[in-house]
Amino acid sequence: MDILKYKNYDALSEAVALQMVNQIISKPDTVFCLASGNTPLKAYEYFVEKVKKETIDYSRCVFFGLDEWIGISPDDTGSCHYFLTKNVFEPLGIANENIYLFDGLSKNPEAECDRISRAIEKNGIDLIIVGIGMNGHIGFNEPGALIGNNVQIVALDSVTQTVGQKYFDKPMLLKKGMTIALRSFLDAKKALLIANGSKKASIIQQTIEGEISITVPSTIIQLHKNASVMIDYEAAACLIN
Ligand code: GLP
Repeated sequence: MDILKYKNYDALSEAVALQMVNQIISKPDTVFCLASGNTPLKAYEYFVEKVKKETIDYSRCVFFGLDEWIGISPDDTGSCHYFLTKNVFEPLGIANENIYLFDGLSKNPEAECDRISRAIEKNGIDLIIVGIGMNGHIGFNEPGALIGNNVQIVALDSVTQTVGQKYFDKPMLLKKGMTIALRSFLDAKKALLIANGSKKASIIQQTIEGEISITVPSTIIQLHKNASVMIDYEAAACLIN
């Protein structure tokens, strides 16, 4: 596992975007799995800008969304669906057949997870980009998550239910989620975990230097064969080594 540190959020975001662009250059049919959330926002802005400016052919790329809140409409500005559509897919004009997003309003979330799981089995994931929750979650893989599945339905931790309110303009009931699971994270050919800001410093220290334990799901990255943790100096502030 590489630890890559950047002087601020902007530098971190530019480096993440560059990795995404280079990934497409080396494999034009790259399968991405992308997190939503505040952390990757600027990286996606830079990514969109770079692929357009450098006229990179991304028409054969496939994109998976990392997770979704169950019960939240794809049109809700707080949904992961809306976030990735507005910040990546619409600006790039990605074809629908190359996009796999969870439908938070699906009447049958199990079937929705099966659909995404089958697509992962068929395509494989080349590059997965994840943020980190304040409790160490990756996607919605909360403390105590199962590792066995590709995709799963989860009961959201109270920390996630509270922190998740930041994405919505009014209070929401956030009880359950669907997520690409830790098995798929470990199986992805390359994984990037990104974090910025001092509020993530303690959980980043535990992720990198703590004992591997499912009580802090992000520690599982230590088992990944090809992973980088990309952080700004503020998020790196508690690292001992
Ligand atoms: C959210 C999402 C994750 C995200 C993480 C960090 O709850 N489910 O996919 O990576 O928590 O979010 P942020 O980048 O906003 O801090």
